[in-house]
Amino acid sequence: MDAVISFVKENPTCAFFYALGGFTFLKFAIKTLVVFSETFVLPGTNLKNFGAGKGSWAGRDRCTFLCIARLTRWIVVTGASDGIGREYAIQLAKKGFNVLTVARNETALKSVTDEIASGTQGKAQSKTVVLDVSKSDHPGWEQLQQVLSEIRVSVLVNNVGKSHAHPVYFAEAESSELSDIIAINVNATVRITRMVLPGMVKQQNGLVLNIGSFSGVVPSPMLATYSGAKAFIDTFSTALAEEVQKDGILVQCINPYFVVSKMSKIRKPSVMIPTPDAFVRASLNKVGLSGGARFVGRPAASAPYWSHSLLEYFIGVLGWKQATVVYSHKLHRSIRKRVDKKLAREAKAQ
Ligand SMILES: NC(=O)c1ccc[n+]([C@@H]2O[C@H](COP(=O)([O-])OP(=O)(O)OC[C@H]3O[C@@H](n4cnc5c(N)ncnc54)[C@H](OP(=O)(O)O)[C@@H]3O)[C@@H](O)[C@H]2O)c1
Repeated sequence: MDAVISFVKENPTCAFFYALGGFTFLKFAIKTLVVFSETFVLPGTNLKNFGAGKGSWAGRDRCTFLCIARLTRWIVVTGASDGIGREYAIQLAKKGFNVLTVARNETALKSVTDEIASGTQGKAQSKTVVLDVSKSDHPGWEQLQQVLSEIRVSVLVNNVGKSHAHPVYFAEAESSELSDIIAINVNATVRITRMVLPGMVKQQNGLVLNIGSFSGVVPSPMLATYSGAKAFIDTFSTALAEEVQKDGILVQCINPYFVVSKMSKIRKPSVMIPTPDAFVRASLNKVGLSGGARFVGRPAASAPYWSHSLLEYFIGVLGWKQATVVYSHKLHRSIRKRVDKKLAREAKAQ
């Protein structure tokens, strides 16, 4: 101790920088520990807190053959006919919720309903609403409002989303594509949340998962409108989360990097690119946790899949956001070149 005191007295500037370095390292070590714990160790909030299993699901063993009790809690999943949304519907049904699915393709929604019935031995009920959320006057909106008035919604998954068909410079993009992206990602999320949230406030309980994207975390050149729309989802979720926390409602923005799906046009999973099944399993195991998004100043943001979590954390910690914007521009430019070549080849072949 004496040696330390005399070192500080003799070299005050040096001691100051040692202390600063030590403090910075300690801060980094603590943050890293928290992020790794959330990513690999800590379980998320139990879905029973949001009514999973309420009704016959929980008491089936005790039910006689006369028992007609049914699950009473519902989840609503938009964009539920495919990809990530389909998985949320199926996995949440297995956890003990009834399911209301929303999308355009009736046949695909029917196949989700069938899978829910077989995956839950008929215990979970399903309803579907065929709705094109890009059209503000689609008749499905009225039907959705009607169905919502008949059920008790505990979980809302605002999953429906649309990106640009290909990376494109904003000045060259089709106006209809831009307005669809805003209508589907932004307007539909706001409109459906407004339809569902008052019921959750009334019951003083609920979970809202808004599906964002890394494009909303790191601005993505040549996907500017999608990127901006997903940044809206992130900010909207954070503000809303703070508003309704007092009502027992948890709001999170779930930010995937890439996931195998029709939208991503990626068919093979890898370390960085999970299947929808793996992604949604991680998301439902980490409800209420942020993972790598823990220290980004957006408390409602979450990167639940382990490799996405670490990527988001290290981009933030290393201050690589600007570099990532430049990298993303280069990547999208090269994808665009490949798309243009393919389109030219196809045009020539015709
Ligand atoms: N996959 C990724 O790499 C990735 C990365 C980051 C973020 N995300 C986000 O994750 C969410 C799900 O994406 P995904 O990859 O699972 O997409 P996906 O496989 O293409 O599925 C999209 C779903 O949305 C529905 N949908 C599309 N347009 C609609 C409309 N106008 N009205 C109603 N439903 C509509 C589709 O069904 P119908 O055709 O039947 O309508 C489908 O069920 C999106 O919000 C996306 O932005 C995905």
